[in-house]
Amino acid sequence: MIILGIETSCDETAAAVYCTERGILSNKLFSQIDLHKAFGGVVPEVASRSHLEKINLIITQALETAHVTLDDVDVVAVTNKPGLPGSLLIGVCFAKAIAFAQNKKIIGIDHLEGHAFSAFLEYKVPFPHLCITASGGHTSMYLVKGFGDYHTIGTTVDDAAGEAFDKIAKMINLPYPGGPEIEKMAREVDFKDFFHYPRGKEKTLNFSFSGLKTAVLYDLVKKGAFDLKTKTFLKNDDIRLKQQVASSLLVCISDIFKNKLALAVKKYPDVKALTFVGGVACNKYIRAQLQEFAAQHNLTLYVPAPQYCTDNAAMIAFVGAYKAQQNKFSDLTLDILR
Ligand code: KG4
Ligand code: ZN
Repeated sequence: MIILGIETSCDETAAAVYCTERGILSNKLFSQIDLHKAFGGVVPEVASRSHLEKINLIITQALETAHVTLDDVDVVAVTNKPGLPGSLLIGVCFAKAIAFAQNKKIIGIDHLEGHAFSAFLEYKVPFPHLCITASGGHTSMYLVKGFGDYHTIGTTVDDAAGEAFDKIAKMINLPYPGGPEIEKMAREVDFKDFFHYPRGKEKTLNFSFSGLKTAVLYDLVKKGAFDLKTKTFLKNDDIRLKQQVASSLLVCISDIFKNKLALAVKKYPDVKALTFVGGVACNKYIRAQLQEFAAQHNLTLYVPAPQYCTDNAAMIAFVGAYKAQQNKFSDLTLDILR
């Protein structure tokens, strides 16, 4: 069976072809990062316009690279939640048009389910396992029992981990997206924990990053590096300080993940593996730390390749494949959900 996956929930226009017998045949995307950089974050109107411009091209490229035509496609799988409404609509309308014109089956996919199963694009992960998904919009922990059978056991009560990286990076004048910049800066100072930001004491599986953001802000104010009135970073030329903030932040967020996982493996002792997915899972330092944690607990950690960590359509096509096998189709009344 051949599945065409389409993903336009945020700032990536993505299409991929997945074959149930042969695996991933193509994974194409246009990243809008450069369009949004000037604004320091994603601008919804700019995002949906760009999706509209690029979607035809990206789908064509995905089909060509996979050496298939629309005739060969059995199912169109498209992200219909959650995300920016104007962006989701482009993908869903395009998918519905293909399904209608070519008489194809269509399935609406939850973007987060895509991330949750993205490790399966490369690995056979045993069930049950724990999954940490950390991206710019979401940070959650799931207990995953089977394909499509996953339960949220912890989620962020405020900001997502990627959002914390992005917002704190902005505070010290680093470009968007902040995560990769913070990692680069932290590497320069060997990932040392200079300022020991608070890890949070709560013994729950929920995440909270907004307190961390405030703690970093007030620490900068105390150091005379940030002016609250004008909201400006005052030490732009002090590279050393930027590196120290970046490194302390990265070590702190990594520790928070390890602390939550330690709680979770105690609560769910039957899990056979761990997965770490979403844009933040591109981070080599956190990957290595979680690898160490997994080894200490006799568990295997599976982390997707970077192109499957950040938003992509391959993970959407993969979920579409097992949903099709489970006979869970949508129809042409498919709509976006927020
Ligand atoms: O999954 P994703 O591409 O989009 C969402 O669904 O949000 O994740 C994007 C997020 C951004 O917040 C970005 O800063 C973060 O992933 N990110 C990283 C790294 N690469 C991307 N965070 C930390 N370290 C990285 N190397
Ligand atoms: Zn995502």
